[in-house]
Amino acid sequence: MSELRFEGVTVRYGRALTAVDGVDLTVPSGQVVGLVGESGSGKSTLARAAVGLVEPASGQILLDGSPLHSRRPLQMVFQDPYSSLDPRMTIGDSIAEAMPRGARRRDEVVRLLELVELDADRVSAYPGALSGGQRQRVAIARALAGKPEVLIADEITSALDVSIQGTVLNLVRTLQRELQLSMLFISHNLAVVRYVSDIVAVMYLGRIVEVGPARDVLGNPQHPYTKELLAAAPRRGSTSLPPPDEALVADAEPADPHHPPAGCRFHPRCPIGPLIRTDREHCLTLDPTAEADHRLHRAACHHAAGVLRAVGSNPPVHLQLKEDSQ
Ligand SMILES: Nc1ncnc2c1ncn2[C@@H]1O[C@H](COP(=O)(O)OP(=O)(O)OP(=O)(O)O)[C@@H](O)[C@H]1O
Ligand SMILES: [Mg+2]
Repeated sequence: MSELRFEGVTVRYGRALTAVDGVDLTVPSGQVVGLVGESGSGKSTLARAAVGLVEPASGQILLDGSPLHSRRPLQMVFQDPYSSLDPRMTIGDSIAEAMPRGARRRDEVVRLLELVELDADRVSAYPGALSGGQRQRVAIARALAGKPEVLIADEITSALDVSIQGTVLNLVRTLQRELQLSMLFISHNLAVVRYVSDIVAVMYLGRIVEVGPARDVLGNPQHPYTKELLAAAPRRGSTSLPPPDEALVADAEPADPHHPPAGCRFHPRCPIGPLIRTDREHCLTLDPTAEADHRLHRAACHHAAGVLRAVGSNPPVHLQLKEDSQ
């Protein structure tokens, strides 16, 4: 079991685009952190930084408090099981390749195939002979072959047929518990995130805007962006439309990460911000990014603070207001 911690992590693509901007996020040992946020908010970039596929411009990524010396304790499963396996390698070789040196490969491959509920006789099959769901099981076995302490799952069921998403999800959740893995679980699907996560973090334009226990963030969201995400999520048996002013701003321009707005990044779309409430000019200039602290549930919004103060046993909230640096 291990704790994964992002401390002030910033990732840039070229000079113009800051895809992840000063992110502080902890994946506690043996727990699942669900990471949600719209397309382009930087979720995959954060995951890629953790496994070393992109280099942060600043900040650090710590495992149990120490900088990573190797990436082996962190393994990632990607969205597309078709491109994540080499089509010229048998699945047995693919899994064996990911094992640490000296492992008893043959026995271990069979054990891993059993773990992901695939028949051991598929060991000599090529990925082309497998269904999408079976390939994703192989990708999971391959990730587990590296004996990870932390598993990073990036939209692992999104490319699969709806009918098999549930079984792959159940498998991952069972394995996470049995192996006591810490997990960063990225998904667009809030129902899926609710199902697997202990903690939920919400990302918007490269920043974490709300984080807390899953039941609090999803059941009692504080940031207007989280509320918007939840309102937009399809709900069984519900056909109601969001209230009129929320509907109005939800139609605003999508966020452009090349030109993040000053002040609160969400202000051009915010249903409780200066578009609707003209007295809230400070949202145009003051960055509400909350300092990293030990509150369980926190939201980076000037106007969530009063509400958050009332949440459960959390200590009183004093959101730090930073002068915007842009
Ligand atoms: N290799 C890259 N080169 C340049 N820009 C990139 C690259 N990868 C991602 N980006 C940009 O960085 C921003 C964050 O992208 P990222 O893929 O991390 O978002 P995401 O939250 O995972 O989105 P999605 O939900 O669509 O997967 C986006 O503006 C995206 O266009
Ligand atoms: Mg992504």
